[in-house]
Amino acid sequence: MADVSIKDVYKTFGKTEVIHGISCDIKDGEFVVVLGPSGCGKSTLLRMVAGLEVITKGEIAINGAVVNDLEPADRDIAMVFQNYALYPHMSEKNMAYGLKIRRMPKEEIEKRIRNAANILEITEFLDRKPRQLSGGQRQRVAMDRCIVREPKVFLFDEPLSNLDAKLRVQMRLEIRRLQEDLEVTSISVTHDQVEVMTLGDRLIIMDNGYAAQVGSPLEIYERPATRFVAGFIGSPGMNFLPVPLSADGQWVELPGATRLPLQNGGIPSHRGQEIILGIRPEHCDLAGEQAGMMHLNVDHVEILGADTLVYGHFGEDNALLAVRLPAIHHFEKNTILPLVVSTKNMHIFDKESGKRIGD
Ligand SMILES: Nc1ncnc2c1ncn2[C@@H]1O[C@H](COP(=O)(O)OP(=O)(O)OP(=O)(O)O)[C@@H](O)[C@H]1O
Ligand SMILES: [Mg+2]
Repeated sequence: MADVSIKDVYKTFGKTEVIHGISCDIKDGEFVVVLGPSGCGKSTLLRMVAGLEVITKGEIAINGAVVNDLEPADRDIAMVFQNYALYPHMSEKNMAYGLKIRRMPKEEIEKRIRNAANILEITEFLDRKPRQLSGGQRQRVAMDRCIVREPKVFLFDEPLSNLDAKLRVQMRLEIRRLQEDLEVTSISVTHDQVEVMTLGDRLIIMDNGYAAQVGSPLEIYERPATRFVAGFIGSPGMNFLPVPLSADGQWVELPGATRLPLQNGGIPSHRGQEIILGIRPEHCDLAGEQAGMMHLNVDHVEILGADTLVYGHFGEDNALLAVRLPAIHHFEKNTILPLVVSTKNMHIFDKESGKRIGD
């Protein structure tokens, strides 16, 4: 049982600052997912929590006690690394290792290992050495070591990246169930959009060493604070169109002269200016009987089974647009599709700062 407080934490390697002041209070039992582009500092942040990197400035506290100067072994944290560190000459011992150094009775160690191995479907590999395991099997052994210890805090750095699709889904549910059963405060890094939306109570979206937004998955999906965040959550990513805002700030004009009304009083502060309109692919639909707001010229179609992705262009400037339609559609290239946009789900961003404006 532990809460983790990250307070204005900085990290510098040599002369390069890579983390520029990140803060987040993680409640006891909470599951936080960290997401961001490669090199933005996710692993570095986790490693500072684990005690594997020195904190250049700021404070990390567990249950109110500052751990900045505490050795990793004294923090009672278990971490699954991005490049899972297995001790090359240990097999079952691999999982027992964390426990032996804690002087747990042998029977208790064996019981815990069998339990965890069952969950992870690795019982048959227990006596193999790491080099005799596949990448995914190794990842599960690393996970097992983590679970077996029942620590105060779990840290997962892309724990499922080497697993096949079926195991991934199984493990995702298993991690969530375990985390809820054990009520272990957890921080996990992932690039997987489904994991992002389903695994975490809260997300930290990182951009180049900063926390661009912290919030629940739905909050961030529905009200992304910046264009960067908006483009990072959702797949395919949000469409961005530079369009003019009307002189009274109450509507935007799409290429092709269609006017889309804004919700909740419009954006008087930016009247007459060019803004960035954000539309998620799933918030467009075929126009049917209604007049289309835009006429998409189909470039490419991807049939996913449950739904169909259509990529195309429209308007004089050939603005690009991705659309997600429910069910299966066979559209030929260069077909013209009349589309409607769900105006209550539009997002508006400032063109210069990229910040969300209006509602
Ligand atoms: N030991 C180190 N010495 C110098 N620079 C480092 C060191 N470790 C990481 N960096 C730099 O710090 C930045 C953040 O690295 P980090 O590994 O935290 O990224 P990440 O978000 O985990 O990326 P990825 O998604 O690719 O794993 C990168 O620019 C990286 O080159
Ligand atoms: Mg990393």
